[in-house]
Amino acid sequence: MTRVAVMGGDGIGPEVVDATMHILEQMELGLEFVRAEMGLACFERTGHHLPKETIKTLESSRAALFGAITTPPRPDPDHRSPILQLRNHFDLYANVRPCTPLLPELGKVDLNAVIVRENTEGMYTGREREEDGAVILERVVSERGCHRIVEKAIDVARSRGMHKVTCVHKANVLRRSDGLFRRVFYATMENSGLQADDMIVDATAAALISKPSVFECIVTLNLYGDILSDEAAALTGGLGMAPSANIGDSFALFEPVHGSAPDIAGKDIANPSATILTACMLLEYVDMKDAAIDLRSALVRTLKEGDRTRDIGGTLGTMRFAEKVAERLTSD
Ligand code: NAD
Ligand code: IPM
Ligand code: MN
Repeated sequence: MTRVAVMGGDGIGPEVVDATMHILEQMELGLEFVRAEMGLACFERTGHHLPKETIKTLESSRAALFGAITTPPRPDPDHRSPILQLRNHFDLYANVRPCTPLLPELGKVDLNAVIVRENTEGMYTGREREEDGAVILERVVSERGCHRIVEKAIDVARSRGMHKVTCVHKANVLRRSDGLFRRVFYATMENSGLQADDMIVDATAAALISKPSVFECIVTLNLYGDILSDEAAALTGGLGMAPSANIGDSFALFEPVHGSAPDIAGKDIANPSATILTACMLLEYVDMKDAAIDLRSALVRTLKEGDRTRDIGGTLGTMRFAEKVAERLTSD
């Protein structure tokens, strides 16, 4: 039986994951779901943000579904987020973030794109040191890292029927590092049969709003992808609607783009749609394409028929919304 690890985390993480699991369990998919824990609440209970047990559970699973965790409030310079540890441990080098409104009316602009974000290097090495009254960060952009993320972007673009990949960088300033990324991008794209172009990241932030229809597949470095994907989420229904997948060569971890949202945690108002769409990506990954299509269309129908959470103009609570999606699935 295919094993899938499930981690709620902190804040709204457990709320949106439980709501999603309510639906998945009713679907009788024949998957083995195994619970694991990490994050701040886990630390408070066990003394570990990322227990060894959790890593073992993930290592024995085909994929994982994860909600969100809270970064500890006290500044600890040596704290490394468990999610970043997992991205590195499993070499989940591609972060795929679709940016398309699920219903046209949820889109603020005409954006139908996907961001493929390099997920293991760039600004996220964690290698910071203090020297002569300054803090120096080692930012890594490697030829191998660039090549494999562009290859992944080509796959993602093809699988979505897209015709163009845009490399987003800051090579006008970061001459060597982002210069390498742009060079490797054009070399890798050469025989792809896809159109290739590039744009500087600050201009991209503006163009996502002012000329969104120029984008199809965006491939970019780690921090740029982090920032642009929150912007793209805001343009396509909000963080409550934005899914993502951390993908490596032999394992993948699926999580919504949003964080633990402490401002709304415990109120039963979080939108679980981002996590439900994330679960659709997981189902595709474990070769359950039909189940992914069914789940996605039940979600679309639920929203179309006016059952919604507050962030997108409805009144339903997190679990109640999930129940409505589950009802549509069983009424097929
Ligand atoms: P956030 O994404 O948690 O929230 C930003 C805003 O979006 C908030 O106003 C929140 O209420 C809203 N929002 C987010 N998800 C929503 C949903 N499903 N439904 C409705 N509204 C939603 O970002 P933040 O507040 O900057 O970060 C909170 C914590 O989460 C921090 O500790 C941060 O480090 C962490 N974080 C974790 C992850 C992760 O675990 N993958 C990702 C991002 C941030
Ligand atoms: C995300 C988050 C993470 C990131 C944080 C929580 C480490 O913002 O998944 O987008 O910066 O990648
Ligand atoms: Mn982020």
